[in-house]
Amino acid sequence: MTAEIAFLSNTTDDNDGLFAGIAQDLVEQGYSIQVGQLPLSVLDPITEYCHSLHSVKFVPAGIGRTLTFQQNRFVRRDEICWITGESTAGQIWLDWTARLQQYLNQRLFLGLFSFESHFAHYPPGAFYKRHTDAFVGEANRVLSVVVYLNPDWQHDAGGELVLYQDEDDNEGIKVTPLLGTIVVFLSETFPHEVLPAKTDRYSIAGWYRLNQSRSHRVDPSR
Ligand code: OGA
Ligand code: MN
Repeated sequence: MTAEIAFLSNTTDDNDGLFAGIAQDLVEQGYSIQVGQLPLSVLDPITEYCHSLHSVKFVPAGIGRTLTFQQNRFVRRDEICWITGESTAGQIWLDWTARLQQYLNQRLFLGLFSFESHFAHYPPGAFYKRHTDAFVGEANRVLSVVVYLNPDWQHDAGGELVLYQDEDDNEGIKVTPLLGTIVVFLSETFPHEVLPAKTDRYSIAGWYRLNQSRSHRVDPSR
């Protein structure tokens, strides 16, 4: 870990300050970028767990439900592993995201109902082309959360997340995937992409959803 990142790390476990900052950013701009702010009590176990997962646990990522594998390879080349509560580290992560959910529901009345997330591994050269996280006609993902798990990220390694303000924005805001950096944004509003990186890139991507239950159908978890 470099001195710069150590300096930025959140060692205080001050979730209230962090959550308040995220909530304020969401109200003012619809997104929040918190550099190196995931508390170490969460970051350490999930980083270690993610890096310990044997590569067989990661499977090529899919998109939507209809695209063929070839089209899929054109859009994204990362591989993913869904996070369940089976591991202690997974539980710690899910506890933290549940606390963020509760905070945002209380403060912003967002009505966030469920959460799903996966680790993602981008091998060198892998990318995820410009996309929006909420599927059209299935607008149930409301809030996206991304966290980076790269302890020694080099500044010239690429792999930035580019967050676009709207459909017409072609410049975007670049986020370096530094250890502990959190990005939260409204899923339907911000197109984004992952640029190819020179080295292995690890992240968690997660989504809060609204309750999609109808009178005859219980909301499926995924
Ligand atoms: C995603 C995604 C961003 C990132 O998985 O949908 O946009 O920086 N990930 O890993
Ligand atoms: Mn995305």
